[in-house]
Amino acid sequence: MSDLLDVMRSRTVLRNYSGKPVDDIVVDDLLSAMVSAPTASNKQAWSFVVVREPERVRRLRAFSPGIIGTPALVVVACVDRSRTDRLPGHISRKIYETSRLCVAMAVENLLLAAHARGLGGCPVSSFREAAVRTLLGIPDHIEPLLVVPVGHPAEAPARSDRRDKNEVISHEIWGQRPAAGPAA
Ligand SMILES: Cc1cc2nc3c(=O)[nH]c(=O)nc-3n(C[C@H](O)[C@H](O)[C@H](O)COP(=O)(O)O)c2cc1C
Repeated sequence: MSDLLDVMRSRTVLRNYSGKPVDDIVVDDLLSAMVSAPTASNKQAWSFVVVREPERVRRLRAFSPGIIGTPALVVVACVDRSRTDRLPGHISRKIYETSRLCVAMAVENLLLAAHARGLGGCPVSSFREAAVRTLLGIPDHIEPLLVVPVGHPAEAPARSDRRDKNEVISHEIWGQRPAAGPAA
């Protein structure tokens, strides 16, 4: 699948992984796409830990109830507070908040890149932060936000329900819907 819009429209979370490993070159592609995401003020106040060693993946799963199935790898996506805290008070707070959004954008890039390569993954916020910190040696200034299991699908995932776009998108003024559907 190469068309970006098709990739975006057909992505869905994957929670059942086959045991097949992911090639190093593919992992590198995914990680390059991940760190190509935009960042506020180009601060790149993020940090990621890629876990592939099977025993470490197993232990990470044990601390992450949101990880279902056994993925080939897990990316732990974090904010790097050392790059936000050194700024003056209110700016520091703002950059910290926006940096959390930047990490989320990087994770979406990772998920889309994985899908484009025939893999899948799931953003997971349900994990025990303190245990994950200890397991991976993550220092205080690095704040884990999401763990992202990635792997080959065991089976094609079911598509999730989505709200109708006309219910959530207004045009010009909030609450104003298009008079008719898009022209054919
Ligand atoms: C910020 C965030 C946190 C999430 N945390 C979890 C989680 O802890 N466990 C889980 O199984 N799925 C988690 N998900 C995945 C959502 O359940 C999933 O994206 C949603 O059901 C929509 O499905 P779709 O991505 O296939 O459209 C999370 C998604 C987001 C965006």
